Amino acid sequence: MQNDLLLKAAKGEETSRVPVWIMRQAGRILPGYRKVRASVKDFTQLVKTPELACEVTLEPVHVLGVDAAIIFSDILVIPEAMGLPYQMIESKGPHFEKTIKTVKDIEALRVGSTENWDYVVNALKLTKKELNGKVPLLGFAGSPWTIFAYMTEGSGSKTFSVAKRMIFSEPKLAHSLLEKITETTIRYLKDQVNAGADLVQIFDSWGGILGHDTYWEFSLQYMARIADELSKVAPVTVFPKGAYFASEQLAKVNCRVIGLDWAVNPTEARKIFKDKTLQGNMDPCMLYADTKSIKKATETMLDAFGGRNYIANLGHGVYPDTPVDHVKCFVDTVKEYTPR
Ligand code: CP3
Repeated sequence: MQNDLLLKAAKGEETSRVPVWIMRQAGRILPGYRKVRASVKDFTQLVKTPELACEVTLEPVHVLGVDAAIIFSDILVIPEAMGLPYQMIESKGPHFEKTIKTVKDIEALRVGSTENWDYVVNALKLTKKELNGKVPLLGFAGSPWTIFAYMTEGSGSKTFSVAKRMIFSEPKLAHSLLEKITETTIRYLKDQVNAGADLVQIFDSWGGILGHDTYWEFSLQYMARIADELSKVAPVTVFPKGAYFASEQLAKVNCRVIGLDWAVNPTEARKIFKDKTLQGNMDPCMLYADTKSIKKATETMLDAFGGRNYIANLGHGVYPDTPVDHVKCFVDTVKEYTPR
């Protein structure tokens, strides 16, 4: 591998500089993505066409100069693989025609296997070949809880009260669905590693809507199980968005990297996650500021994390209307940085 900075940092090894990539880097901020997106019927067609998924995965590596490629796909591949298809509605987000409400609904779902996500496997294989060792290739999946939230709600939500109603009123039912998602996700991520993913990230995007007394039971124990299985074959990153109330439990999970959102103080995080690599955590909205301010904020972030055991990133996905040169300013500032 020509540039293995990110993998070295993930493993806790020393690197010549801090590696950087951006969550949602392969998306609407880039002109090439928008062009490809306009040429297909819908979002799922793009996800399911390996040549196009590969093309948009590579674009940020070439245009932004990031230190990793993340396979272009979506966390909602899993519900679909289990038998619950979704549509991506323009400027609204995901929509599931049918949602999961009963034992019968859960029984009707399958534990997904390779044939249900062969298009992701093929996209990874093709991208791995095209990258030719330039930078590492990242795989990913949603956390069981975050996937559960979409399968029960049918879309995004402000409160996720439908999902939360099930955990409080029918916990056994909730656990049986979480079990099925977890088993599917372990198979899915193992297939991603076999197809060329060098590291896998678990996105717990909706972890923060749970509480200190429910996070372990309904989210973290399932991510911990995935991390135990996957750590045997690749480094694992857990991104528990909004769930730092569970930091002490998170620190015990068998993963190499913890993703931090912008609410977290880097110095505090270092104290809790002593033996882990940290990733994050600039507020994506900071990239709306002028480039001079972005440079300054990026350097402050780098100073706070220090040069080791660290992967620079935003604290959540980049917003689609962020100017590309502002994103580039963030990336370049990290690459030019020398620890003070
Ligand atoms: O560059 C990358 O990071 C890889 C691509 C990627 C996408 N989705 C592409 C995408 C990744 C890693 C995801 C993960 C994902 N998908 C998450 C977890 C990360 C997070 O942001 O918390 C979640 C919650 C989803 C579900 C999802 N997909 C939503 C809520 C939406 C609609 C909102 C939006 O951003 O438009 C999507 C759609 C989606 N996934 C787009 C892209 C590029 C935009 C759709 C389009 O181009 O029409």
